[in-house]
Amino acid sequence: DDTAVRRERFSGGPAREFLSSLAADAAIFEADLAVDRAHTVMLAEQGIVDGGVAGEILAGLDEVEAAGHGALPDGEDVHEAIETAVIDRVGPDGGRMHTARSRNDEVATCIRYRLREDLLDAAEATVAAREALVEVAEEHAETVMPGYTHLQPAQPTTVAHYLLSYEGGLARDTERLLDAYDRVNRSPLGAAAFAGTPFDVDRDRTAELLGFEGTVRNSMDAASARDFLAETATALATLATTLSGLAEDLIVFSNKGVLGLADAYASTSSIMPQKKNPDTLELTRGVAGDAIGEATGTLSLLKGLPRAYNRDLQRAHASVFDIAGDVREATEIAAGAVATAEWDADALAAAAGEGFSTATGVADLLAMAGLPFRTAHEIVASAAPAVGDGDGPATAAAKVDEAAQAVLGESLFERVSRDEVERVLDPAASVASRDSAGGPAPEAVAADLTA
Ligand code: ARG
Repeated sequence: DDTAVRRERFSGGPAREFLSSLAADAAIFEADLAVDRAHTVMLAEQGIVDGGVAGEILAGLDEVEAAGHGALPDGEDVHEAIETAVIDRVGPDGGRMHTARSRNDEVATCIRYRLREDLLDAAEATVAAREALVEVAEEHAETVMPGYTHLQPAQPTTVAHYLLSYEGGLARDTERLLDAYDRVNRSPLGAAAFAGTPFDVDRDRTAELLGFEGTVRNSMDAASARDFLAETATALATLATTLSGLAEDLIVFSNKGVLGLADAYASTSSIMPQKKNPDTLELTRGVAGDAIGEATGTLSLLKGLPRAYNRDLQRAHASVFDIAGDVREATEIAAGAVATAEWDADALAAAAGEGFSTATGVADLLAMAGLPFRTAHEIVASAAPAVGDGDGPATAAAKVDEAAQAVLGESLFERVSRDEVERVLDPAASVASRDSAGGPAPEAVAADLTA
């Protein structure tokens, strides 16, 4: 028949494998069956295809589904292969399934159908990770730890405040994934090749049957648009970037001996028997590189494509599904590593005072007593080289006082009491004093935890 003649002419020859997306299309096998079913039901409801024939097609699709993607006949892609498999079962009437559509609107619909699942899975993983962070934070509102800038000791904070900083980032990552979901969740079906169809199709009906929130209206936009892939890849890359920072921190903290990873999230060496390495976190950090590559690659592929359909698009989606799976997994692993790690409160407390990390508190105290902050900063800065990690609050206070006498020509203790200075030099008191909204003081953190 004509189809066979056409297939022969466009068999692909040496380019056949190169043209085919059948293997990668395993990711949209289920989606294509759903799209075929919805389209067939709509064709019957609209009187475009006879109800009996539609029933045979639907029964054929059930058999194709039961046989699985691996049993499909050879074809350029999953759409063609499923159609061939239906025709093999139903006879030439099976070919009525492709009335009033094109593979262009078909594949665009399949991609969106599949991507919804991936986005929801990734978003769910971010929510679970946030719950894990909050749970650990609740146990550590008072656990003082060093806070870093430039990876140098900066100011003491708490484990809770630190963990909740990532909860905030992940909350925005959840929002970005769900925003992307809203734009993915529109049906292009019924756009046909790009220019619509003379058949009286009901696009809202297929959208409804497939669970989409309405259609992508303009048929040329519907068939060509893949901006939702770029948006999804970018949201995933941003999430992976958040996780990579968390992973890097945890690697550093375990290196410093203040955090112990659970054995289940560590790995060992095939030669060095003593090793316990943070491999899961390194892989998490590595996934961000791939995710960024995916976002860049997707935009590069789409850049400058003319309207309406170009085969380049065949290469755009499979790798987004893959990276969505990788990023979801990295999210689950990072959450598991955080949930099971042990924070060493004593080691953290000791480290929290290192590097004169309470210096800002002394400058703040002097500024509160009326000195210009810049002058206060200068006094404490000139004392800083003399203050050592072994100095207790009394020794450090005396050194700051020496600096005050040199800079101001008068003792520090003319303006602030020795007790107050010594108090802010204590890491725990330093944290407790920083009770501004969103700050690390235990009651500020507690307020945010209950909000
Ligand atoms: N496998 C193709 C894709 O993923 C389906 C569309 C083919 N359409 C065409 N006009 N060649 O893009």
